[in-house]
Amino acid sequence: MPANTFGELFRVSTFGESHGDAVGAVIDGIPAGIELDFGAIQNQMDRRKPGQSALSTSRNESDIPTFLSGLFEGKTTGAPLAFIIPNKDSRSNDYDALKEVYRPGHADYTFEQKFGIRDHRGGGRSSARTMAPWVCAGAIAQQILSAKGIQINAYVSAVGEIESSVPENLDTNFIDANAVRCPDTVAAEKMEKAILQAKEAGDSLGGVISCFLKGVPAGWGEPQFKKLPAELAHAMFSINAVKGFEIGEGFALSRMKGSEANDAFESADGKIQTRTNRTGGVLGGISSGMPIHFKVGFKPVSTIRINQDSVNREGEAIGFSAEGRHDPCVVPRAVPIVEAMAALVLVDLMMMHQARL
Ligand SMILES: Cc1cc2nc3c(=O)[nH]c(=O)nc-3n(C[C@H](O)[C@H](O)[C@H](O)COP(=O)(O)O)c2cc1C
Repeated sequence: MPANTFGELFRVSTFGESHGDAVGAVIDGIPAGIELDFGAIQNQMDRRKPGQSALSTSRNESDIPTFLSGLFEGKTTGAPLAFIIPNKDSRSNDYDALKEVYRPGHADYTFEQKFGIRDHRGGGRSSARTMAPWVCAGAIAQQILSAKGIQINAYVSAVGEIESSVPENLDTNFIDANAVRCPDTVAAEKMEKAILQAKEAGDSLGGVISCFLKGVPAGWGEPQFKKLPAELAHAMFSINAVKGFEIGEGFALSRMKGSEANDAFESADGKIQTRTNRTGGVLGGISSGMPIHFKVGFKPVSTIRINQDSVNREGEAIGFSAEGRHDPCVVPRAVPIVEAMAALVLVDLMMMHQARL
């Protein structure tokens, strides 16, 4: 049962691997007549692409999508929108040592067990490179949503043990003012130092991304099995290295009493809203009209230069330390991926809601 397609009505089918000719996707279900803002798409691509700063892998890719179908005079035609993103800077020889070994924490062992064959070059289909098309498709979804007044903004809220304060300003330019993409400048400086120290030591760090979805009207999300948080969790857990998802106050709610946890309703300017927003903008799996907010936890990158215990394909014990180019911490580059996947969820649920009307 292959599962390379995300979404029901806005369907994104992806292809490609780290060191193949290209990665790409086909979007089926995109409405006709949308004038795409290619500059905005490229901005999101540039935020994800490798080689942005000393905090990311030095692989050098321009990540400019080439659109192959579904466009006429700059507007979508309603036909499948297909695009490719070439892989230009793969250095496959750097990965020769990985052919016979299973990296601890990576997907080498499970891919080989499942498929009986493994493209070890840059991690093949398990590589984060395969998420470049997600960002392109998500940037297109973001344009459909922003025409409806919906904003999606994510930022790095933790790296290792260092946490950010909650920012007032979620504007992308403000978040991107430093390489970590953390709007708390004091925390950002500490995070940057910690990532560079881990890199120097041949080690890696994990982190947390927080995301806010504003302007989503009440009513999106389908009970029972396409609840908005369930779809978001599916989308976020589809991102490589994600190990945690929490909507609203999440696990903290389980330690509160009902009287502490409930968000009281009130009327303000003729509109019903809640005074607090601990449930994260969703009730019964349906958006409440309040901002939706959630957190995504990423594990530290598994490919590290420090020597680790592993086994080869024959099951013989070996010591292993990685070569090649790797991210010491993925969260700065994962910010646009989180935004893209949130956009794909919202556009799909919007279309499902519209189909009911
Ligand atoms: C933006 C991004 C960049 C990543 N870069 C690397 C990398 O350079 N090296 C690596 O080993 N893992 C990297 N990963 C994580 C792996 O892709 C991931 O850990 C691996 O596929 C195993 O999957 P799992 O961690 O979800 O179990 C990255 C993840 C993301 C989101």
